[in-house]
Amino acid sequence: MASLTSSLSPMASLTSSPSQSVAKLADHALDSSPRATLLKLSAPRAARGRTAIVRSCHGAQTLVDNCSQASNVPVLTCSEAVERLQAKRRGWRGKQQYLAMYSSVSGGIVTDPAAMVIPMDDHMVHRGHGVFDTAAIVDGHLYELDQHLDRIMRSASMAKISLPFDRESIKGILIRTVSVSGCSKGFLRYWLSAGPGDFQLSPSGCAEPALYAIVIQDQLPFDSTGVKVVTTSVPIKPPQFATMKSVNYLPNTLSKIEAEENGAYAAIWLDSEGFVAEGPNMNVAFVTKDKELLMPHFDKILSGCTVKRVLSLAEALVNKGKLRGIKLGNVTIEEGKAADEMMLIGSGVLVRSVIQWDEQAIGDGKEGPVTQSLLNAIIKDMESGPSTVRIPIPY
Ligand SMILES: Cc1ncc(COP(=O)(O)O)c(C=O)c1O
Repeated sequence: MASLTSSLSPMASLTSSPSQSVAKLADHALDSSPRATLLKLSAPRAARGRTAIVRSCHGAQTLVDNCSQASNVPVLTCSEAVERLQAKRRGWRGKQQYLAMYSSVSGGIVTDPAAMVIPMDDHMVHRGHGVFDTAAIVDGHLYELDQHLDRIMRSASMAKISLPFDRESIKGILIRTVSVSGCSKGFLRYWLSAGPGDFQLSPSGCAEPALYAIVIQDQLPFDSTGVKVVTTSVPIKPPQFATMKSVNYLPNTLSKIEAEENGAYAAIWLDSEGFVAEGPNMNVAFVTKDKELLMPHFDKILSGCTVKRVLSLAEALVNKGKLRGIKLGNVTIEEGKAADEMMLIGSGVLVRSVIQWDEQAIGDGKEGPVTQSLLNAIIKDMESGPSTVRIPIPY
C-alpha cells in the first residue's frame, strides 16, 4: 500500500461526497490543524538551515549538488500538496484503477485517488499493526464476503486490534464503498488497524482503531495457463503469524521476488518440519497418483477462503468418480513433486495448474484435468453460486 501511505491526517473532515474539492477541504484543515501550524512555523527555520559545504574531492561535489537539490525542496501548503498528489496520480498509468476508498478516520468515501491516504502515524504504517483481507467483485456481486469478514475478525483478534464498529456495520460500509465505486469487476481490499495516534511502539496512544477499504478495478484478462514454481529460501513465518492475515507481507514479497528472479510464478514454503506449506498469497493442493485431492493442514498456514470453497466443490468430483477422496494432511516435498497434478488456489489466482516445481515437471507437464474442473467449478460458483457466497451490490 505504498502509494496510500502519504500523511494527510489533517483531512479528517473529508465527507462522503465524491464531487467535493479535496483541495478546499485540505486548505481548511491546514488552517485549523495544530500539525499545520507546526508546518508553517518550521518553514522559515528549514530555509535558514541550508548551507552547502564545498570541498575539493569528487564525492563532496555530489554532496553540494545534493545539498542544493535538497534546498530546492519546497514547503507546500496542504492544498499545494493535494494538487501535486493529483497531478502525480494523473501521470501514473498503472494496471489497476482505484475507484473508491473508505476511511474511518475521515468518516467517508472518496473517489479521487489523490485523497486515498492514511495517516502516517497510524500504527499499521510504522509498526505493521494491522490486518487485512480481500473479496472479489464479480458481475456486481461480492464473492465470499462473509467468509473473508470472518477471517479478518479472527486476524484482528489475534493481532489484539479492537473493532471500530460491529461486524454488521463494517459489512454495510464495505458494501456501500463498492456501491459508490460503481465497480462490477475487481477487488475490495480492507484493513483493520490499531489506528493513528503517535509513533510509540505500544498502541495505547492510538485514540481509536481504524477501518480502511479500497475498491480496485481489475480489467486484466484471466490467465489459466500452467505455471512454474520454485521452493523459496525465504524463511516461513511461524504459525502464530502465518495463520493470521497481518500487513507484514515482507517475507511473502521477498519470496515472490525470488520466484520472479528464477523465472517462476510463485515460490513455495516448506514448514519447520519440511512439509509443503503454501505460496506467498495462495494455498497449494495436489492430486495424488491414487486420485486423492490432498492439501496441507491449516494449522501452520493461512486458512484460505478459496481453498475451503474448492474443497467443498470438489465433493462433486468425488461423486462423479473423478476423485477418490479429499484429504488434509502432511505432504512431503517428494510426494508433492511426484503428484499427478499440483495447483495454486487463492482469491487472486483462483485455481491454477503448476506444471513444473523447481526442475521437476509435475505429472505430464501440462495443465491437469482435475485442476481444470475445479477452476471451472469455482468460476461457476463466483458467477452463479448460492446467496451464502454471493452478495449483490446495490448500485
Ligand atoms: C499467505 C496466503 N496464503 C493463502 C492465501 C489464500 O487465501 P484466500 O483464498 O482467502 O485468498 C492468501 C491470500 O490471501 C495468502 O496471502
